[in-house]
Formats: sequence, structure tokens, C-alpha cells
Amino acid sequence: MEIIISETYDEMSRLAADMIKHQLLKKPSSVLGLATGSTPVGLYKELIRLHKEQGLDFSQVITFNLDEYLGLPPSHDQSYHYFMDQNLFHHVNVTPNNIHVPYGHTEDIEEFCQWYEDQIERAGGIDIQILGIGGDGHIAFNEPGSSLGSRTRLKTLTKQTIDDNARFFENEADVPRFAVTMGVGTILEARKIIMLANGAKKADIVAQALEGPVTAQVSASALQLHPDVVVILDAEAGKTLRRADYYKWVYNEKKRLIPGMIGKTT
Ligand code: GLP
Repeated sequence: MEIIISETYDEMSRLAADMIKHQLLKKPSSVLGLATGSTPVGLYKELIRLHKEQGLDFSQVITFNLDEYLGLPPSHDQSYHYFMDQNLFHHVNVTPNNIHVPYGHTEDIEEFCQWYEDQIERAGGIDIQILGIGGDGHIAFNEPGSSLGSRTRLKTLTKQTIDDNARFFENEADVPRFAVTMGVGTILEARKIIMLANGAKKADIVAQALEGPVTAQVSASALQLHPDVVVILDAEAGKTLRRADYYKWVYNEKKRLIPGMIGKTT
């Protein structure tokens, strides 16, 4: 696992965008796993800038989003599909048929979840998966207790997640109680994972996930099992890491001596 503690949110976003840019230049038909939440908004802004100013091409890219609230159709302004349209898809040249966001308004959830898993497989698997981290350590909507081998399925949200996400809704009662989410096992199959976290509120859970034991109680800790994970934090989110000085030293030495190795876990 490579842990980069950047100075600011903007630097964190730029570093992540740069890694995606290199992936798309290497393989224009890359399969990207995408996340919602406030954390990746800066990354998406930077990707839009790279598209507009440098012609970064998304026409062959295939996307899979991590999760969606149950019961919210794509047109709902709090659905994750709507969020992706507003924050990325409408501003780059991604081909609409190549976009996959779990459908939160489906009749047969189990059948849909299996179909979603099959689509990921048919696309050849995810090349880079972007992740944020929830206040309770969840990745996607894999709340504490989610099996580390779990697949795409229906999850009940914790009270903490409902409270955390209530800021986007008119009131707490409007926050859906269920979501369709990729499983931890699904996520771990991505070839590369980039997890982002910013702000002091995330510092303790980030430290538990990265430096604590691997446990289903903190889904993000499962990333320790993956061979190619890059975690990019801002200074606030990285401030309680026990080995923060070491991570900074590694990053600076790489920058100085082998810049091409940044973001390539070794
Ligand atoms: C939601 C999403 C997660 C996201 C998390 C953090 O619960 N399901 O994928 O990582 O929120 O959100 P934020 O980035 O707003 O802190």
C-alpha cells in the first residue's frame, strides 16, 4: 500500500487525476470504478479540466459506480446517478451506453445485483477503482460487519451514515435506509485502487483502516489485502497516522529520485 499525504485537498485531487490520466493514455478503453460523496468532487473537476484543456479522451472508457440509494431513480437530485451526471458525465465525452450506475429503483434486486457483477466481468474487470471512506469506515456502502468477501447486494445503512449523508437531503427522514452496493469482494477484484480522504473528520477512521487490524468492522481495512492500493490524503486526514513521517519521507524520496514510481505500489 502506498500512502501519500498531500498538503491540500486540491493537491490530493490533482494527484489522483494524474494517475487516471496516465491510465487513460495507456489504455483508452479503461474500465473505471467511480465513487460519489464530496471527497472525489475535486478529482472529477480536474478530470473535466484535463478533458477540456488537454483533450483527455473518455469516449472508450467504461464506468461502473460503486453504489446507489434504493428507491431513488436516476432523475432524483439526490441519486448517485444524478450526482455523477452533474459532477462528471455531462462534462466529458464518456459514451452514455458505457456508463453503469447501480439502479436503485429495481423490482428484482438480487437479479439486478447479479447482472451488475456480470457486466463488470464482461467489461474485463475494473482497471482503477476510486474510493472514498465513510465516517464508519465503509467503502461504497459496505457498512461495518460486511463480509470481506461480499458481492453486489442490498445493504441497510447505519445510523451514522444516514446522519452523515443527511446534509444532502432536506431532512433526515428523507435519507434512504437501504442501498445497492458493490461488495468488498467486488471492490478487491479491481486491478488498482485509489482511495481518497480529506478533512480532520476522517483522520481517526483512516488511521484505523490503514494501520489497524484487517476487520469486517472497518470495511476499508480490507484494502490492506490488495496488492495495488494508493491512498491519497490531505494533511488533515493524515494527521493521526502513526507512520505519517515515514509515508512523507517515502513520497519525497520518490519525487526526488524516481518520480515515475509515484502511485505505483511497490
Ligand atoms: C457515501 C458513499 C461512499 C463515500 C462516503 C463518503 O456513503 N456511499 O462511497 O465514500 O459517502 O462521503 P464523503 O466523501 O462525502 O465524505
